[in-house]
Amino acid sequence: MSDPSAPYQRLYINIDHVATIRQARRTDEPDPVAAATACEDAGADGITAHLREDRRHIQDDDVERLMSSTRTPFNLEIACTEEMLALVERLRPYQVTLVPEKRQEITTEGGLDLTHDPAALERAMARLRAAGVRSSLFIDPDVDAVARARDLGADAIELHTGSYAHHPDDTMQLTALAHAARFAKGLGLHVHAGHGLTVRNVGPVAAIPEIEELNIGHTIVSRAVFVGIAAAVVEMRAAMDHARSSLRT
Ligand code: PXP
Repeated sequence: MSDPSAPYQRLYINIDHVATIRQARRTDEPDPVAAATACEDAGADGITAHLREDRRHIQDDDVERLMSSTRTPFNLEIACTEEMLALVERLRPYQVTLVPEKRQEITTEGGLDLTHDPAALERAMARLRAAGVRSSLFIDPDVDAVARARDLGADAIELHTGSYAHHPDDTMQLTALAHAARFAKGLGLHVHAGHGLTVRNVGPVAAIPEIEELNIGHTIVSRAVFVGIAAAVVEMRAAMDHARSSLRT
């Protein structure tokens, strides 16, 4: 696969689980904002946080502090609710990724169902556009979902890599990601991806030329326990660059 025009692939670090550790004791450490700064210093291209309806990790105050302290683009993940859209209109982060949210889930389990209340999603896209916020929809790697995302007016899609991460040896999963990414780029969408990626499984996803941005969180915080968060970011960047360099040979 040789594609010298493949763009640089951005690494956005999701710092939610730094807040998960803090919330385990309802104290003030570790601070996800300090973690974001450390990730930026280590080469992260952007910072991602998910303000969940149940506030189980990131809190409203974290979002406000991230907005004023991040030097790189800030990507806020939210559910498509009036509360969250109003917050976004007030704070205007660089990018908003709409994700499905269920209270009982441990993590985001699948992509958005774009057939469920598309009018609400279309209104949300229009509100983000009016606020000058780049919009992304977190979807499964499915060409119908990609086409719907374009029709709803999204700037970008984020392809859910969870199925691939659970079954990295199942070539169908990788093929679905590659097809969806190519199809999306052909429609003029920006292509992001994420969920469940680690240094061990990131290579084949990083090597998909159309994927411009990866959002990675849990493994970074997990590795940080052993090597520190800066080293965890550097390790991930190296794994992505190694895979991406194969495109240019
Ligand atoms: N992208 C989205 C939309 C997510 O909801 C998450 C998890 O919060 C991630 C990426 C990152 O997933 P992980 O923590 O497994 O790296």
